[in-house]
Amino acid sequence: IQRDSPPRKDIALESTSLVRGPSGREQVTFHLMLAVGTAVIGSLQFGYNTGVINAPQKIIEGFYNETYFNRYSESIPPSSLTTLWSISVAIFSVGGIFGSFSVGLFVNRLGRRNSMLIANVLAFISAAFFGFSKLAASWEMVIIGRFIVGLYSGLSTGFVPMYVGEIAPTDLRGALGTLHQLGVVVGILMAQIFGMKSIMGNATLWPFLLSFTFIPALLQCMLLPFCPESPRFLLINQNEEGKAQDVLRKLRGSDDVNTDMQEMREESRQMMREKKVTIAELFRSPLYRQPILIAIMLQLSQQLSGINAVFYYSTDIFEKAGVSQPVYATIGAGVVNTAFTVVSLFVVERAGRRSLHMIGLMGMAGSAVLMTIAMALLDQLKWMSYVSIVAIFSFVAFFEIGPGPIPWFIVAELFSQGPRPSAFAVAGFFNWSANFVVGMCFQYVANLCGPYVFIIFTVLLLGFFTFTYFKVPETKGRTFDEISAGFRQSSGREKYASDDFNTLGADSQF
Ligand code: GLC
Repeated sequence: IQRDSPPRKDIALESTSLVRGPSGREQVTFHLMLAVGTAVIGSLQFGYNTGVINAPQKIIEGFYNETYFNRYSESIPPSSLTTLWSISVAIFSVGGIFGSFSVGLFVNRLGRRNSMLIANVLAFISAAFFGFSKLAASWEMVIIGRFIVGLYSGLSTGFVPMYVGEIAPTDLRGALGTLHQLGVVVGILMAQIFGMKSIMGNATLWPFLLSFTFIPALLQCMLLPFCPESPRFLLINQNEEGKAQDVLRKLRGSDDVNTDMQEMREESRQMMREKKVTIAELFRSPLYRQPILIAIMLQLSQQLSGINAVFYYSTDIFEKAGVSQPVYATIGAGVVNTAFTVVSLFVVERAGRRSLHMIGLMGMAGSAVLMTIAMALLDQLKWMSYVSIVAIFSFVAFFEIGPGPIPWFIVAELFSQGPRPSAFAVAGFFNWSANFVVGMCFQYVANLCGPYVFIIFTVLLLGFFTFTYFKVPETKGRTFDEISAGFRQSSGREKYASDDFNTLGADSQF
């Protein structure tokens, strides 16, 4: 495949282009940004619902207690309240597991864009459950709402990175892919801010805080009809060559889309040689075993890094670390989280995925050690509470450099059109399951291990660092077809040794 496209000659292109990729060839056009911006509203929803239950925990627990009292004329036993609350938090990830695993059912039948559109029904239903739960005096409605919005979020974590990966120009795929994560972190930050007592985190307004999710859903429904279907879906799945070309012209702001079309046709030819790729085949076929292992390990490295221990329980962690204003420290973590996602956005196309992921994991491991020291020495040295804030902030910052954004978009890069939907289902399943495990177990393990709980994450992080060093290829600047050709080559030689991956890892040709 010829990667160097002929120089583009149109003048219109100059006026629509906002940014050039590192090669100077690719542009960010209005249509591309509209499509990506609209898609990542789904990511924002995922982030919002991840962060929204942190701040108003006590208030909503108060409602559970009151409802229990009205039903049974006695106060709810503390252990039942803890259980009810844990279920309310964690059922979101259970919804996520089911949602992400169902991605494949939608994307090839309805297309990428219409799948995103239809999923919003779930956001509306969940918002209704939240909005009326207080009126109906029903905690069950909160729990059902959390499950449904979890389903929606699980679907989004497949639909959005897939759509963005498929419409992005090769040179900007990492940067635009990182916008998914930017949507997530902005959603978390919004939830943290809206969740403050003075805004919506109070006894009157909490149902609105939860059902706020219907506003982004409405916005996305209004904007999606103006966004194009993925040209890869049009050409490769539907054989609509003309439509695919039209869409590409709009997205690229140029009439010359031959290079993209040629690359997609090659991917299409490749796909015809393969049959439909089921989830089972992903594991059976030597062709996919290597990329699916990498995809799964990267998802696990994201969740088992311990990041959601921070985003679900930061207030509690800060409190234990002796911080006097834990809620503000939590919002501070949200701000650092957002800022460093922006940093990653700008460096991912230069530094590459592999190195950023490794820097992120190592930095997180270092921060986790610092956190352990701070918590262990807190009794002797009061100022250690400040060290713990620094440790958590740098933990979060390093997360967003690599382990936050990269696992989500790299799945689209590791697989060609045929296996991509199944790969997203598998990757999403592992991500959400690990999310569930951390969310459910962290507090129990923290109680057992005391200040040493972060050592567990340190060990896991070092393990994932080693895996990434030996097994993860660099995908920066390569077309989907080149990446899968690289895997075909190495599986053809039936050799999974690191030197094969290093061929991929280095910036050399496959
Ligand atoms: C990633 C993770 C998500 C986490 C978030 C934090 O998107 O998938 O679970 O809450 O990053 O920024």
